[in-house]
Amino acid sequence: MTPEKVKLVQDSFKKVAPIAPQAADIFYTRLFEIAPDVRPMFPDDMSGQKDKLMGMLATAVTNLHQVDTIIPAVQELGRKHVGYGVKDAHYKPVGEALIYTLEKGLGDDFTPEVKEAWVTTYTTLQNVMTAAASDVAAPAAKKGFLARMFG
Ligand code: HEM
Repeated sequence: MTPEKVKLVQDSFKKVAPIAPQAADIFYTRLFEIAPDVRPMFPDDMSGQKDKLMGMLATAVTNLHQVDTIIPAVQELGRKHVGYGVKDAHYKPVGEALIYTLEKGLGDDFTPEVKEAWVTTYTTLQNVMTAAASDVAAPAAKKGFLARMFG
């Protein structure tokens, strides 16, 4: 992640932060439109979830220039997501809903450069989360036949 991209993401996030509740609404409405199968994973009452997502994004964005400091927390988040039933394939619609939300929230400020910087940011988070998630899934899958039967 280049310093230029980091700055583009941080500056654009500052513009979305004041409309965080609306942005979260746009995000989840879009997500459940394009990936209705994920709706049951979330609670009926989404209010707490919205704060969590925006809070995590804020932390990630604020610390992008020192990404090493948030990697353990992002790995932990990836492992937690396995417990929510999240599979690698779900990251695509979530990323799409995020980009859609930024496009709506930022309007003309969502230039191709800003978009590319956000795609890089999301892809980085996704890669760290799914790598950590595959470590959780791996031990059971690697077990031999007898261990699976009797272990
Ligand atoms: C970069 C990608 C993502 C980020 C930053 C993120 C962030 C978060 C955060 C911060 C939480 C709250 C965790 C906690 O309570 O400790 C959460 C929960 C959750 N996330 Fe994600 N998430 C991401 C991707 C996904 C994907 C791809 C899915 C799949 C649909 C997903 C589904 C969920 C679900 C179902 C919960 C739990 C909801 C609940 O019971 O409250 N997330 N996420």
